Amino acid sequence: MKPSSSAKSLRLVVLVSGRGTNLGAIIDAAQKQIIQSKIKLVISNQPKALALERAKKAGIPYQIIPSQGRDQQKFFNDLKTAVAAQKPDLIILAGFMKILPRDFTQKFRYKIINIHPALLPSFPGLHAQKQALEAGVAVTGCTVHFVDEGCDTGSIILQKTERLQPGDTEETLSQRLLQKEHACLVEAIKLFEEEKVVLQGDQTLLRKS
Ligand code: GRF
Repeated sequence: MKPSSSAKSLRLVVLVSGRGTNLGAIIDAAQKQIIQSKIKLVISNQPKALALERAKKAGIPYQIIPSQGRDQQKFFNDLKTAVAAQKPDLIILAGFMKILPRDFTQKFRYKIINIHPALLPSFPGLHAQKQALEAGVAVTGCTVHFVDEGCDTGSIILQKTERLQPGDTEETLSQRLLQKEHACLVEAIKLFEEEKVVLQGDQTLLRKS
């Protein structure tokens, strides 16, 4: 997938809490110039997140803002200040395990996106893959959506589907979904670069060209 000539380079801030394979996919896409955008800062609320190692290895600035055992209002204020200082075009939640408060989502309205391992609005929240297995659906998938103050409730931007297979476990399904998540997130960033994400009220539509 090559970038179109009209693709803009966006200032990205990526928020993480864990192993960071989605962050890895963005780093990879930037290095291969599949996307034009630059990750200006990676922020983790978990000091030991593996994602930080990925940022370090790629030479991307990172910051730890611990959330545990702290006043949560103070944590989110620090986070807001650090994010705002980067003047981001797009804030990407890539396995960031906190629900952002309203003042945060309002400040960066329609600039925050999240990747979720299910076809929202089905199976929001934790263990989305397990929820899909237990519901007995034939098809699940992943979703990139705008972030509001709810849990995985913001307007949907892009989705990819994945069929459940006989004998699937939470692990096997999660593994296959992860590949789709990486592709979906990179594709979503490209859509923003090409200014193809259009809002109509609270609904997100994609421009074809
Ligand atoms: C992914 O499944 C993502 O959809 C969910 O948390 C997981 C993070 O994985 N929000 P990683 O840290 O990007 O590997």
